[in-house]
Amino acid sequence: MFTLQLSETHEMIRDTARQFARDEVAPSSIERDKNGEFPTEIIKKLGELGFLGMMVSPEWGGSGLDALSYVLAMEEISAVDASVGVILSVNNSLICWSLETFGTDAQKEKWLRPLAVGQIHGAFCLSEPEAGSDATSQHTLAEKVDGGWSLNGTKNWITNGTTASTYLVMAQTNRELRHRGISCFIIERNTPGFEPGLKEDKLGIRSSDTCSIGLTNVFVPDDQVLGDVGQGFKIAMESLNGGRIGIAAQALGIAKGSFDAALLYSTQRKAFGKPISDLQAIQLKLAEMATRLEAARVLVYRAANLKDQHRNYIMAAAQAKLLASQAAVQNALEAIQVHGGYGYVREYLVERYLRDAKITEIYEGTSEIQHIVIAREILKAVS
Ligand code: CAA
Repeated sequence: MFTLQLSETHEMIRDTARQFARDEVAPSSIERDKNGEFPTEIIKKLGELGFLGMMVSPEWGGSGLDALSYVLAMEEISAVDASVGVILSVNNSLICWSLETFGTDAQKEKWLRPLAVGQIHGAFCLSEPEAGSDATSQHTLAEKVDGGWSLNGTKNWITNGTTASTYLVMAQTNRELRHRGISCFIIERNTPGFEPGLKEDKLGIRSSDTCSIGLTNVFVPDDQVLGDVGQGFKIAMESLNGGRIGIAAQALGIAKGSFDAALLYSTQRKAFGKPISDLQAIQLKLAEMATRLEAARVLVYRAANLKDQHRNYIMAAAQAKLLASQAAVQNALEAIQVHGGYGYVREYLVERYLRDAKITEIYEGTSEIQHIVIAREILKAVS
């Protein structure tokens, strides 16, 4: 039975994130969205606060916090700016977690430590032009050469792609073994032949950077293979299980930001001689939005809680992402409706919530993939 009890530490983390979001993230969010500008200073300060390696052990420079702390921070930051949220999520869930779980001590010293303290941030390279949902179908090839591997291929939709220093890159080391022949390589940005492309011009989360990456004869030494040769798909899938909790928390934040904006506006805007929150049509919307928000929150916190208890959280993470991303899109749409014409212009935040919300139904596994993951876990349990 899941019960949620926030400890004093959890409340402190939530309040710190809320205050940081209000004071440091909000003032520049509209400009950064308009210009597609990466939040360099904000990420630096979040690193100093320990938010880039929240779950990493203090032994490696991290904050040593639990997954619930991480989702509380993600929710508060994303309620103000989901672009900052995804940068945090990728670094915490996909990069730091993978390095801490599968890395050697030497790899942790060299890459995890600076990533965990936010000196640098990382990017996760799984998707390809022809391998999105069908992630086992990797075309990037790693051929064995003296002392290491030579990588050739293209990676797509890489969050933090133009700004990261350290990349985890999946590539086929043995085609015949299919997904069991995929390996994970740690690659530094300035490696010859490793070329991040131009930043994508996106609908939403415009202040985070996304690009393709070309790899041409990229030499990666043997000691930069993460985990065992052939373990790359397992690393990708297991880190994505946790990543989905992070994106679910990002979606939860957008659902919350949308609700808060709609509630505030409805108490201030007058029509028919009274605040529109007195109108039943608006009250119905507020009630629906609040209920969706709470339902998403329960699933997101529950998934984090299961992870913290070292129990199986694959299905819980997929359910949380599925429901929270729907809540984000629906609440953003309703927030626009409550704002009427003002909701449709850039001056008010709510149109950005809708643009930002949509990606949560797509990345780290589309909603269709989450359905597959959930159905497989249900069927596994009865077989
Ligand atoms: N957790 C752990 N292991 C998993 C897993 C999970 N959730 N899902 C699959 N696996 C394992 C399976 O156990 C199997 O391993 P073994 O054969 O060794 O037992 C292996 O992975 C292959 O699984 P399937 O045989 O089920 O393969 P499939 O092709 O039928 O399905 C899939 C695989 C679930 C569809 C998978 O490809 C998938 O999750 N696709 C979505 C990819 C995705 O989420 N991409 C996100 C890109 S990263 C991103 O967006 C980050 C960002 O920048 C924001």
